Amino acid sequence: MMKHHVRIEPIGLEEEVEHLTPLRDVVAKHGVEFPCSGKGRCGNCKVKLLKGNIEIDNKQKTLLEQKHLDNKDWRIACLSTVTEDITLYIEPRGKEVIQTDYSFFKFQPEKGYGIAIDLGSTTIVSQLINLQTNQIEDTTMTINSQTFYGADIISRLSYAMKSTTHLKQLSNLVRDDIRTQIRTFDDNKRQKTRKVVIVGNSVMHNLFGCINITNLATYPFQSPNNAELEFYADELEFPLPPTCKVRFLPNMGHFVGSDILAGIQAIKMQKQEKYQLLIDLGTNGEIALGNKYNIHYASTAAGPAFEGINISQGMRASSGAIYRIDSSGYKTINNTKAKGICGSGLIDSIYLLLKEKKIDNTGAIIESNCHRLPLTEDIYLTDKDIREFQLAKGAISAGIQILLDEANITISEVEHVYLSGGLGNYVDEDKAIRIGLLDGMKKSQILKMNNSALMGAKENLFENNNTEMKIILALAKHCSLETNTKFQDIYCEKLFFPNKIPNDNNI
Ligand code: FES
Repeated sequence: MMKHHVRIEPIGLEEEVEHLTPLRDVVAKHGVEFPCSGKGRCGNCKVKLLKGNIEIDNKQKTLLEQKHLDNKDWRIACLSTVTEDITLYIEPRGKEVIQTDYSFFKFQPEKGYGIAIDLGSTTIVSQLINLQTNQIEDTTMTINSQTFYGADIISRLSYAMKSTTHLKQLSNLVRDDIRTQIRTFDDNKRQKTRKVVIVGNSVMHNLFGCINITNLATYPFQSPNNAELEFYADELEFPLPPTCKVRFLPNMGHFVGSDILAGIQAIKMQKQEKYQLLIDLGTNGEIALGNKYNIHYASTAAGPAFEGINISQGMRASSGAIYRIDSSGYKTINNTKAKGICGSGLIDSIYLLLKEKKIDNTGAIIESNCHRLPLTEDIYLTDKDIREFQLAKGAISAGIQILLDEANITISEVEHVYLSGGLGNYVDEDKAIRIGLLDGMKKSQILKMNNSALMGAKENLFENNNTEMKIILALAKHCSLETNTKFQDIYCEKLFFPNKIPNDNNI
């Protein structure tokens, strides 16, 4: 088989690949992301060609043109294959923002070390914990390698359903990601590690366990396995002592995973007299409302807009993402050149467009025949992006309303509203309230969580905290939004923005 050299600049790495190797396989490991799952729609997997040539077809030409990229210098990685020696330029990744949590909780000292892992659909965060002191000794974060097979979990479900080989492939990818993360921890401490606790949504749970997920992807959408998954480290080939126990905590329900269960434990919902609300604005919206008597929970098909997915110039909250924007300018994560817009930037933009009367309360662009609105010189929102945001907003706020109705309370009776997930860190709660995403809430109710799921996972490394999960599961009642007769009406109503944006005194 003919081979070719691919050189990646500026890091200067070179590798030999076979003739017709898909370019995506070469560049994915250098941080190029594939937001539309390599379907050749978004153009965000672009790479710069410095030397050599890569043939392009009409589909690629059109996409490059739409992105205003010269087809001499640029290629779309997911539409390209390697047919000769080439040199590419791939912008080095900026410092990653790690969503972690350093809050303190009660624990009884134990021997050795433990590892807590938040297996998210987009990112995976692992922490090495000293079980004697409850000190975090190391933290690592990487992108979930499954993202190439779909930024959203529905695409991954479809891919895994195609064959057992595909299912195993997705399972191996995340297991391998975790192996790589564990290898970065100190050798000596790894050898003293006695337990690992993993949390994630129900799709991650089943894919990690390599469980046939057809039932989760087809009506009536039942998770094939919601139970806790238990392994020994050697079964998973984790670089830890062979008898180290690895637990993937149980799902709360079919589309509500152990990440929410762990989050509920972290905010101690099950111990509170007053109602607490936990909202995870991640790749799918999960909500729990409860206190020490009852916990109602639901998942909404909010779509991944809050993670910047399905937004033309959307991106996750990483280096270069616009996370704050107003009429005087914008801010990016790590203060670098703007590459795109993340969830909190999207909320700010919608607020700005409403305030400047560029869109109306139905989300329509006011100027006739205009389909995109510039936010900066290069970054814009299209009418489709605004619609995408409205669908996510409608699903979340309708889900909250249904849970409040189930508990027979109003939002003013909720003591705290905890925001978790991709948006937790950056969201401007004022603006989220004003545009009706956090409908009717007061700013004083809202508490931002960095990573409540990871904190709950850490708590479960300690024996004395293990009973809490059982208490939560016993209190939990699933609320099915799909079968709720009021959901459609409330959802349609919540798609709209407020007619009048409330002023400072109203929130
Ligand atoms: S165009 Fe390649 S991932 Fe979207």
